[in-house]
Amino acid sequence: MFLTQPPVMSPPSLLFSLFLLLLHRALFSTAILHKSSLIGADALSQRTTLKDTPPTLFFEVTKPIQLPNTKPCSYLILQHDFGYTYGKSPVLANYTPPSECPSRKFSKIVLEWNSTCKGRQFDRIFGIWLGGVELLRSCTAEPRATGIAWSVEKDITRYYSLLMKNQTLAVYLGNLIDSTYTGVYHVNITLRFYTVEKKSDDFGSTSDNSVAKYHFPADLILPFSRDLPLNDGLWFEIENSTDFASKEFEIPRNAYRAVLEVYVSFHESDESWYSNPPNEFIEANNLTDTPGNGPFREVVVSLDDEVIGVVWPFTVIYTGGVNPLLWRPITGIGSFNLPSYNIEITPFLAKILDGKAHTFEFSVTNALNVWYIDANLHLWLDSKSTKTEAELLKHDSLPLAVSAVSNFKGLNGTFFNSANRSISSTGWVRSSHGNLTTNWIQNLRYSNSMVVGSNGTLQVVNQTIHFNDSVHAKMSSSSVYSAESHKEFSLYLYYNYLDQGNETSFSLENITIGFNEKKSEASALELSKSSLQNVQNGQGYMTVKDNLVVSGLGSTQQVYKYDDSNSCYFRNVSSSNYTILYDKVGNTYNGRMQSHFDL
Ligand SMILES: *[C@@H]1O[C@H](CO)[C@@H](O)[C@H](O)[C@H]1NC(C)=O
Ligand SMILES: *[C@@H]1O[C@H](CO)[C@@H](O)[C@H](O)[C@H]1NC(C)=O
Ligand SMILES: *[C@@H]1O[C@H](CO)[C@@H](O)[C@H](O)[C@H]1NC(C)=O
Ligand SMILES: *[C@@H]1O[C@H](CO)[C@@H](O)[C@H](O)[C@H]1NC(C)=O
Ligand SMILES: *[C@@H]1O[C@H](CO)[C@@H](O)[C@H](O)[C@H]1NC(C)=O
Ligand SMILES: *[C@@H]1O[C@H](CO)[C@@H](O)[C@H](O)[C@H]1NC(C)=O
Ligand SMILES: *[C@@H]1O[C@H](CO)[C@@H](O)[C@H](O)[C@H]1NC(C)=O
Ligand SMILES: *[C@@H]1O[C@H](CO)[C@@H](O)[C@H](O)[C@H]1NC(C)=O
Repeated sequence: MFLTQPPVMSPPSLLFSLFLLLLHRALFSTAILHKSSLIGADALSQRTTLKDTPPTLFFEVTKPIQLPNTKPCSYLILQHDFGYTYGKSPVLANYTPPSECPSRKFSKIVLEWNSTCKGRQFDRIFGIWLGGVELLRSCTAEPRATGIAWSVEKDITRYYSLLMKNQTLAVYLGNLIDSTYTGVYHVNITLRFYTVEKKSDDFGSTSDNSVAKYHFPADLILPFSRDLPLNDGLWFEIENSTDFASKEFEIPRNAYRAVLEVYVSFHESDESWYSNPPNEFIEANNLTDTPGNGPFREVVVSLDDEVIGVVWPFTVIYTGGVNPLLWRPITGIGSFNLPSYNIEITPFLAKILDGKAHTFEFSVTNALNVWYIDANLHLWLDSKSTKTEAELLKHDSLPLAVSAVSNFKGLNGTFFNSANRSISSTGWVRSSHGNLTTNWIQNLRYSNSMVVGSNGTLQVVNQTIHFNDSVHAKMSSSSVYSAESHKEFSLYLYYNYLDQGNETSFSLENITIGFNEKKSEASALELSKSSLQNVQNGQGYMTVKDNLVVSGLGSTQQVYKYDDSNSCYFRNVSSSNYTILYDKVGNTYNGRMQSHFDL
């Protein structure tokens, strides 16, 4: 059941006037207000013959997916040209599991999105759903006159059970075409199924039921998304801080583990929520169109009206964000493959194993229009019983602790915001795997310092989120499974803006984005530790006229370092004005060293 109001669709003309309005506002009030996505200039197109220039390859820096040494069965599951798709129903296709593959047992399943586009177009958010379960949330690259191409690969093995059944595939990418915005997104979606190399990798096998399958994909995945038919994405839309989305569900009575995977993306007034000033500043300066509510946001997940977990999202910057020239061809961290966030539900199974309907609800603290949210409930079922038993032993969820200090005079000011949250729950579940007691803890810390100067034309934001969670499962007193994740999301943003009159502005941008994560996982079958450090620096300037970047430059440097127990991956890459300046890649897998250096 969907309780929020149906979304109000703005006709395309309204949408465009909104963009113009946003720009108008940016020009005549202050820099902080500059929130609309922009379209990058393409100076090249004036000088080069279009036909002779190959498309520019855009990419997100990420480690390659570790693949087994088997030849995959590959299926093109959708080929579509996304022209004027805004406000139309998602593109649908019938999905059938691979039947011609020699073995029907797979150890890895990969989704590959390939797209080309030419002309001029905004960055567009899109989603891919299978049976209502979201597989990928992503943003398109902004094209250039000479054409671009990019591809996104995602390991979708965790959706194994879903992929073994007939389903409806749905893709929503709301695009607009007119005489100015000409880019049509040509898209192929391919799935690759890698058959098993070793018996232990066989997720399809039901032979070993003695241990709880912590490292196996779930047996059943329930979607928390909107039902077709629809005229937009299957995500729920959260429009303000009191708005919420909820859906009833029932789970099989033999579940012994549950994890809710949450997808989020933020748009329009909240596209750069981390730089929104507080309302008192906006009111004191009579800024009527400036998105406010301060720079703190959290996605709150409730089960039957009780807060059970939160998501403090990573600050994904889309390809039209800050300065679009920064993201060509190296795109912002997470922009081609937005992170999803896991909330452990196992301690709460006692509340939902009764065979009755229950409700998950999603809201966003301080939200402004609009957040796109949906979720997938991954369930592990006890194949040797029809009913498990469970009890919630403890649930502590303290209210959010926030502190906000504002100090401003006119349009100059300093703002400091911090927040804490901690949630902990413990419950036991008795199944044929034994009586497992699971403890789940979320510990989050946030700080944001914002300086607005030069009468509102200069803005500097420094934000850090520490997002820690852990799951510990034990039987009697011995540990059966343990997982910890320590994430650090950091953002530095410098933005200096000059109104040049005649609907034209000049701005300078400096940005640092960091996504660091340390993870460990231990079960009877495996022990793994991994560490990721992923940092992007960008410097840009641009002249904007009528919402179009007419000239400018973007330079981006990224260092990506990943290692785990049997592999490591390193990349140090730099680009400026569409050109790769250097690209160093290092890779070891099971001790084998592979590296190459390109200049
Ligand atoms: C997708 O594009 C990449 C290059 O971006 C290419 O290597 C790959 O083969 C393409 N995949 C398919 C299925 O065409
Ligand atoms: C999609 O696949 C078709 C057929 O293989 C190919 O001709 C086309 O170039 C592909 N398009 C993209 C965007 O990869
Ligand atoms: C799945 O779809 C295929 C192709 O449409 C059809 O032949 C098959 O019977 C379907 N299987 C089930 C279980 O519905
Ligand atoms: C929040 O959004 C909901 C859904 O559109 C709407 O019904 C409600 O009136 C809004 N509340 C406020 C305070 O604007
Ligand atoms: C804001 O508007 C009020 C009422 O019109 C006016 O008294 C005040 O001076 C204005 N403040 C600024 C900073 O423009
Ligand atoms: C958060 O936690 C820290 C350390 O426990 C504390 O010093 C701080 O006052 C708390 N509150 C906020 C709003 O940051
Ligand atoms: C399962 O273990 C918990 C914690 O040790 C205990 O309180 C509970 O009674 C056990 N349940 C069953 C059915 O044995
Ligand atoms: C804001 O700061 C600028 C210098 O950055 C200064 O010229 C201006 O007078 C200040 N405005 C106010 C209202 O203090």
